[in-house]
Amino acid sequence: MKTTVVVGTQWGDEGKGKLVDIMAESADWVIRFHGGANAGHTLWVQGQKTVLHLIPSGVLHAHTRCLIGPGVALDPFALIEEIRGLKSKGFLKEERQLLIADQCTLILPIHKALDQAREKSLLENKIGTTGKGIGPAYEDRASRRAITLADLYQPRLEEKLNRVLEEKNLLLEFLYKESLHNPKDLVRDLVGLAAELAPYRTSESSRLLIDAKNKGQKILFEGAQGSLLDVVHGNYPFVTSSSTLAGSVSPSLGLGPKFVDHVVGVFKAYCTRVGSGPMPTELKNEVGAKIQKDGQEFGSTTGRVRRCGWLDLVALKYAIDLNGVDELAMMKLDVLSGHEKVAFATKYRIGAVVKDSFPTALEDLENSVPELEWHESWSESLIDCRAWEDLPGPAKNYIRAIESHVQCPISRVSVGPDRAQILKVPRI
Ligand code: IMP
Repeated sequence: MKTTVVVGTQWGDEGKGKLVDIMAESADWVIRFHGGANAGHTLWVQGQKTVLHLIPSGVLHAHTRCLIGPGVALDPFALIEEIRGLKSKGFLKEERQLLIADQCTLILPIHKALDQAREKSLLENKIGTTGKGIGPAYEDRASRRAITLADLYQPRLEEKLNRVLEEKNLLLEFLYKESLHNPKDLVRDLVGLAAELAPYRTSESSRLLIDAKNKGQKILFEGAQGSLLDVVHGNYPFVTSSSTLAGSVSPSLGLGPKFVDHVVGVFKAYCTRVGSGPMPTELKNEVGAKIQKDGQEFGSTTGRVRRCGWLDLVALKYAIDLNGVDELAMMKLDVLSGHEKVAFATKYRIGAVVKDSFPTALEDLENSVPELEWHESWSESLIDCRAWEDLPGPAKNYIRAIESHVQCPISRVSVGPDRAQILKVPRI
C-alpha cells in the first residue's frame, strides 16, 4: 500500500510507535498529523530506548523523511530538546530528514501553565490531561489568535504575543492565582529558538506529499493518542483536543479525502487508560495489577501509572468503524502470559439493557458493566515467538476469537518491545 495511516483504536499507548518504526523501514515518509507533545512513542532498537513526543517514529531510519504537519500543536521548546537528543544519539544527521509545517500552532509556556492551573482547580473532576498545554493551544487556534511557526519569522511576533498573553495573564492572575508570563522574555526565548528551527520549515507540505505520492513513494501517517480520546467521537469530555481518527489526515494536512489508501488499527491485547474517565473493563484487583506490572504500564509522557483491564471489543469495534480500519495489529500479547484465564468484553449491560454498541453519553459509559467472554490462557513466555507456529494453541485461539468478533483481520502480533519481537498472522 502506498499511503497508510496507523491509528490507535483504544485510549492511546497502544504501541503505534513501535509499529510505525517497523513499517518505516520500507517507507519514504512518516508524518505526524495531529496532537502534540502529549504523545509519547517509545521505541526500542537493539536494547536502546528512545521516546519521541513530536518527531515521527520514522526518524530512526536515516532514509525516511519525517514531517510534522500543519494540524500539530507544536511546543518549540520540547521540539528543540527532542532534536538535540536525537542528534546526540547519532540520529537526524541530515536536516532534510525533518520538515515542520509553517502552519503548526505553537504551544507556549503560558498554554502549559493554563492547562495545569485549570486541572488543579477542577479537583476531583479533572480530565487528567498531560499538562502539555494541548487544550489551551487548540483553543487559540479555533479562536483565531494562535501563534504559528511562521509567525516566529515575522515582524509582528511581539504584537501577536502581547494579544495572547494579555488575556491569559488575566486568567492566571485573577482566576487561578498563578504567576504571570512576560511577553518580552517570551519573544527573546522564541527568537533564540527560531534560528535553530529555521532549516526545517516548510510552507508547502501538501504539495510535497502530493508529489511524493505521484512519484510512487510510500507514505505513512502516524496517529497519536487513540480513537476513544477523539475530541468529537471519544467519551467527551475525557478526551484530548484534536481529532485522533484516520479521517483527520485529510483536513489536518490539507490533502483530499481519497489520499489515504489503507488504514491500520493498533490495539493492545488488553486495555489501558491514563487520566480520568470511564473504562468499563478496568480491573481494580490483583489481575489488573499483574497486567500493569508485567506490561510496565507507566505513561511515557507523564510517568503516571496506567489503569489496566481486559480487552474491550465493544470499544474496539466502535474504533474500527470510526476509522474504517482495514487490518489490525495486536501489541503486547506477551503480557497476558501466566493468567488463570483471559477474557474480553463483547457487550455492555446498562441497567436492564444489554448492547454491543459503544454508548455516546458519558453517563451510559460510566454505568456500563462489561459482559466478558472467557478463554483458556497460556503459561509460556511468548517473547521468543517469531512465527505464528511458535505461539501456544490458546494464544492462537484468543487471536482468532477476537478476529471473529470484530470481523477484521489481525495481521501482526507483537510479543515484546524490540523491533524483532513481532510476527505475522496468516489469513484464514
Ligand atoms: P491532553 O491531550 O493532555 O489534553 O489530555 C487529555 C486526555 O488524553 C487525558 O486523559 C490524557 O491522559 C489523555 N492523553 C493525551 N495524550 C495521550 C497519549 O499519548 N496516550 C494516552 N493518553 C493520552
